[in-house]
Amino acid sequence: MSEHIKVLLPEDEIAVRIQELGERISADYAGRQVHLICVLKGGSFFMCELAKRITVPVSLDFMSVSSYGGDTKSCGVVRIVKDLDESLKDKDVIVVEDIVDSGRTLSYLLEVLKGRGPKSLRLCTLLDKPDRRVVNVNVDYTGFQIPDEFVVGYGLDYDQKYRNLPYIGIVEFESDTPQQAERASI
Ligand code: IMP
Ligand code: MG
Repeated sequence: MSEHIKVLLPEDEIAVRIQELGERISADYAGRQVHLICVLKGGSFFMCELAKRITVPVSLDFMSVSSYGGDTKSCGVVRIVKDLDESLKDKDVIVVEDIVDSGRTLSYLLEVLKGRGPKSLRLCTLLDKPDRRVVNVNVDYTGFQIPDEFVVGYGLDYDQKYRNLPYIGIVEFESDTPQQAERASI
């Protein structure tokens, strides 16, 4: 199926917001070091930009989790595909995610990470779709709340495509276009 991408959040707007988040995190963690955990692959673009705007000392680690399937909906079964390299013991940890949708991935992940003895554990997400929440997740830092639309870009993919778009866009599938709808109704 072919798809069209409509811009939702342009690059310059995202940059301004990430700068604000970086300043807030720097103030909140003054005098401390933050340990950022990137949830691959979607969180990678956001984490790099965010890390550059944090002025307290930063260390980084990466993990990859997978909810099965390549579709636009997460089915709630989560597994760790790549685990962290370093211990979280006594660290001030911030998990950096691309998007919180149903909340299933993050609620699972935060429980696992909490068990590893961090001094503190917070969550920072670029995007939040609150309308879609199934499992409650406490989000400490949010870039943007967005409507219930499937989005791509800035690390987010549709079937592994579009992660490299420098903006966030809504995926409009061909059958969603007015021309298609008109054709279908004839
Ligand atoms: P969850 O439903 O909160 O568990 O989100 C699971 C994962 O689904 C997210 O980390 C994203 O990788 C992916 N996801 C959710 N919504 C979108 C979207 O709109 N575009 C691309 N990926 C999404
Ligand atoms: Mg993700």
